Amino acid sequence: MKQRILSGITPSGKGLHIGNYFGAVKPQVELQDKYETYYFIADLHALTTVKDKETLENNIREVILDYLALGLDPQKCVFFRQSQVPAHAQLAVILANYTPYGQMKRMHAFKDKLQKGVKVVSINMGLFNYPILMAADILLYKPYGVPVGADQKQHVELTRDIAENFNRTYEKKVFPLPKPLIQKETGRVVGTDGKRKMSKSLQNTIGIFEDYRIIERQIMGCFTDPNRIHPTDPGKVEGNPIFIYHDLINQDKDEVEELKRRYRKGQVSDIEVKKRLIAAHKLRFKTARQRRQELKANYQLVEEILAKGAQQAKRIAQQTLAEVYFTLGLGKDSSQKR
Ligand code: ADP
Ligand code: TRP
Repeated sequence: MKQRILSGITPSGKGLHIGNYFGAVKPQVELQDKYETYYFIADLHALTTVKDKETLENNIREVILDYLALGLDPQKCVFFRQSQVPAHAQLAVILANYTPYGQMKRMHAFKDKLQKGVKVVSINMGLFNYPILMAADILLYKPYGVPVGADQKQHVELTRDIAENFNRTYEKKVFPLPKPLIQKETGRVVGTDGKRKMSKSLQNTIGIFEDYRIIERQIMGCFTDPNRIHPTDPGKVEGNPIFIYHDLINQDKDEVEELKRRYRKGQVSDIEVKKRLIAAHKLRFKTARQRRQELKANYQLVEEILAKGAQQAKRIAQQTLAEVYFTLGLGKDSSQKR
C-alpha cells in the first residue's frame, strides 16, 4: 500500500511565486507518482486576513489555477477545498482541547504579526488558532509526510505534539505522527531583497503567472552583489540572489556556468545576467502559463475536479472523525446498538 502525503496552500493573496514553487509545489508534484497524495486549498485559513467576499473568491480561484497549472494532476492526487470538507473545522474544535496555550503563544505566525507592530488586541482568534486548524487538516488524513517550506516546520511539529498528547490521553494510537518534508536546498528561497524569505507580504517575490512587465520589473530590481559597482568589477556569485534564481530556474546549465565565470571575472553586467534570467523564466514556465490559460477558459472542469476531490477527501476525513468521536466518548453509545 502506498504511504500518504498531504499538504495545502492558503489563498491569502495574489498568485504563487517562485519561492512557493521550488519550496513546496514542485516537491509536492514530484511526490504524486510514489505516494497517495492529498492537496488542498486552505480557504478557511485565508479568513485570518481576507475579509472581503470578492477578494476571497478571487484569491481562491487564482491559487487553484496556479496549483493545477504547475503540475498537480487530479488523475494522481486528490485535490480539494478545505471548506468543502466540514470535518476539518470539526476536528479543529476538538484538538484545541489538547493544545497547550503556552505553546500556541510561541507560534511564528502569531509572533510575526506582533513583531510587525500589530497590537495584540487587533489580532483575531482565527490567526491565533491557525496552527490548530492546520493540525486538524493534517491529522484527519493520517499522512506519513507533509511537504512544505521551512517556515511551516514549526506548525508540523506542533501537530505532532498535539497528536502525541491526544494519543497519550486515550492510551490509543489514533494519530500517527506526521513528518515535515522540507527541501534542504529550496526550503527557504530568499527574496529579491537578498535578506528575507521570499514572501507575498514582504513584496520581495518573483511571480510565475503575472504579466511579464511585472516579472521583468521584479527581476531587474533584484538585489545582487552590493560591492560590485561596474560590470568590470569581479563579482561574488555565492549567495547572490540572481544566481540562486538562475540555478533554480535556468535549465541551460552551461549558460549558468558561463555567466558565473564571467561574473567572477568582471566580464558581464548585472543587466545581462538579469535579462538572461528573464529569458530563462519565460522558457521554464511557458507550458505552465499555457496550461493555466486553458484551465481558466474551462473553469467548469476545474469545479468538477474540486467536487470529486471533496467527495474522496470526505470519505477519509469522516472515517477519522468517527474514530475520534468514538475514542472521546462522543460516538454512538454501544448500548444503543441493536
Ligand atoms: P507566503 O509566505 O508568500 O505567503 P505561503 O505562506 O502561502 O507563502 O506558502 C505556501 C507554501 O510555500 C508553504 O508550504 C510555504 O512553506 C512555502 N513557501 C513560502 N515561501 C517560501 C519560500 N520563500 N521558500 C520556500 N518555500 C516557501
Ligand atoms: N499554513 C500553510 C501555508 O501558509 C497552509 C496549510 C494549511 C497547510 N493547512 C495545512 C500546509 C496543512 C500543510 C498541511 O501555506
